[in-house]
Amino acid sequence: MAQLHPLPLLLLLFLFAAAGVSAGGANGAHVSAVVAEKGLAFAKDVLIGEAVRSLTPLRLPGVEKAVRVPFLGGVRVAASNITLFHLDVGDNSTVHPGGSGLVVVASGITANISMHWSYCYDSWLLPIEISDSGTASILVQGMEVGITMEIKNSNGSLALSVLHCGCYVKDLVISLDGGASWFYQGFINAFEDHIKAAVEKAIPENIIGGAGKLDSFLQGLPRTVSLDDVAALNMTFVNDPHYGNSSIEFDINGLITSAVAKTTNNLQKHPHLSLSCGGASKMLLLSLDEDVFNSALDVYFKAGSMHWVVDKVPDQSLLNTASWKFIIPRLYWNYPNDDMLLNISMASSPVIKITSEKIGATINADMIIDVVDGKETVPVACISVVVSASGVVEISGNKVYGRVGLDDFSLALKWSKIGNIYMSLIQGVIRVFLNTVCMPYLNSRLGNGFVLPVVHGFTLQDVNILTSAKQLTLCSDVIFTNASSLASLAFL
Ligand SMILES: *[C@@H]1O[C@H](CO)[C@@H](O)[C@H](O)[C@H]1NC(C)=O
Ligand SMILES: *[C@@H]1O[C@H](CO)[C@@H](O)[C@H](O)[C@H]1NC(C)=O
Ligand SMILES: *[C@@H]1O[C@H](CO)[C@@H](O)[C@H](O)[C@H]1NC(C)=O
Ligand SMILES: *[C@@H]1O[C@H](CO)[C@@H](O)[C@H](O)[C@H]1NC(C)=O
Ligand SMILES: *[C@@H]1O[C@H](CO)[C@@H](O)[C@H](O)[C@H]1NC(C)=O
Ligand SMILES: *[C@@H]1O[C@H](CO)[C@@H](O)[C@H](O)[C@H]1NC(C)=O
Ligand SMILES: *[C@@H]1O[C@H](CO)[C@@H](O)[C@H](O)[C@H]1NC(C)=O
Ligand SMILES: *[C@@H]1O[C@H](CO)[C@@H](O)[C@H](O)[C@H]1NC(C)=O
Repeated sequence: MAQLHPLPLLLLLFLFAAAGVSAGGANGAHVSAVVAEKGLAFAKDVLIGEAVRSLTPLRLPGVEKAVRVPFLGGVRVAASNITLFHLDVGDNSTVHPGGSGLVVVASGITANISMHWSYCYDSWLLPIEISDSGTASILVQGMEVGITMEIKNSNGSLALSVLHCGCYVKDLVISLDGGASWFYQGFINAFEDHIKAAVEKAIPENIIGGAGKLDSFLQGLPRTVSLDDVAALNMTFVNDPHYGNSSIEFDINGLITSAVAKTTNNLQKHPHLSLSCGGASKMLLLSLDEDVFNSALDVYFKAGSMHWVVDKVPDQSLLNTASWKFIIPRLYWNYPNDDMLLNISMASSPVIKITSEKIGATINADMIIDVVDGKETVPVACISVVVSASGVVEISGNKVYGRVGLDDFSLALKWSKIGNIYMSLIQGVIRVFLNTVCMPYLNSRLGNGFVLPVVHGFTLQDVNILTSAKQLTLCSDVIFTNASSLASLAFL
């Protein structure tokens, strides 16, 4: 089966949000992702880290002023090369889904700024121009930044906008190095307001600019992601994000469609904000409808890629007509001591059913018995095999693995050129065959795993898997393992 390519899904899930617009029509969501309180806090921390990384160094505009000093008259003072080079957000930041958006507030921020200062004056008292210059270090204290963001569904993509972004600077401590100390206070008064205003203007501007880049990135994401030349994943966002008191849900169509034909199976879904992880507090809850799995199976079935010719079994003598002398006498009489092949194909698309107890699968296969008569392969009979199996899903890293086991099966003869075959007589052999050949074969394919669409740089951790009626839910924490990959989005 195909491997899902890494997609920026988790990024979307993690990046801040807010609702708005109503999406009309019969939209169907088959995958929903709920970012829970802990996940929002994680997203906020990642975002703040990235914002700080990209905001520094921040160049602020210089200033030149004329200051009136008693007895001296007009003094020209100037500050240049004002650079905010360090931001320390600390851990006093919060994130809340608000009525119309997501509000992130960081307070108690400190920042370090460096600058170059100079002054000069000439007075009628003195024959020469007096000037001096030096550097200054400025400590910004008690800064607060608040952002209200909104994410809407825009024609199936997410559109992010900043509704409001404000920055407030409480205190500045300016220490001038060099120059004449008696003059310092005058400088400080001349520069303080300018620097405060410059910081309060530049930080929101840069955050809004970064959000614009992120918005283009989100809107530029493909709606359909091909998994291989047969199947494609429909990544269309349906509905607007749903907001809970401390979580956000994103709904995605999530069905696997044929890269050529189209399967549409629209089900209206209800928000899952009440989903729980059996009491565990996790960052992310990803719920997948059984339709997601069934749509994938259907696409591969229709593409004709569910065939399997078996010419080797653990007890190879079973694939020789001699072994069947007494059970299917005509097989042996017509083709004595010939090798046999089993040509297995699906009669219909396998069906997955998820209940709170288990993940079940019904596989309806046709097994054609071929006899290799010299150079010719002759189909001699066809047996319909309906298998019910149950599976478990495991996650390791960003990969999902499956394992199936046989529950039950039934056999029926579809046609035969070698007389009647009594199903009750071959039941035991078929059971062994299913258990020793078919299930291991399926498990070896499922064991390769599917890469979950998690953005590069993030890794799922401590995943719990729960099943409920028609749904598989993954509850997971996420760790951020590679900051440089996020930075490569040029965010902020
Ligand atoms: C993808 O999903 C959207 C929303 O459910 C739907 O309108 C669209 O037709 C789907 N695309 C394909 C190729 O099935
Ligand atoms: C501006 O300030 C930065 C950081 O303090 C310093 O590295 C740089 O040399 C300065 N540039 C000028 C032109 O003074
Ligand atoms: C954290 O932020 C809150 C709200 O802005 C403020 O009241 C509190 O003093 C801050 N705590 C610290 C340690 O900065
Ligand atoms: C920022 O300023 C404070 C106080 O002056 C100082 O302790 C701290 O080391 C400075 N940070 C950097 C990165 O220069
Ligand atoms: C909406 O998306 C579809 C499919 O990608 C595209 O063909 C259409 O032009 C888009 N409409 C608008 C208004 O952007
Ligand atoms: C959300 O908060 C409101 C008011 O605090 C409360 O009435 C409501 O039950 C909460 N909803 C959930 C899903 O926790
Ligand atoms: C297996 O059966 C299918 C039809 O069910 C047929 O097209 C195919 O050629 C057969 N393959 C072999 C190796 O017998
Ligand atoms: C992090 O991601 C970058 C860019 O995607 C990649 O070049 C780098 O090797 C990654 N580092 C690690 C430790 O995975």
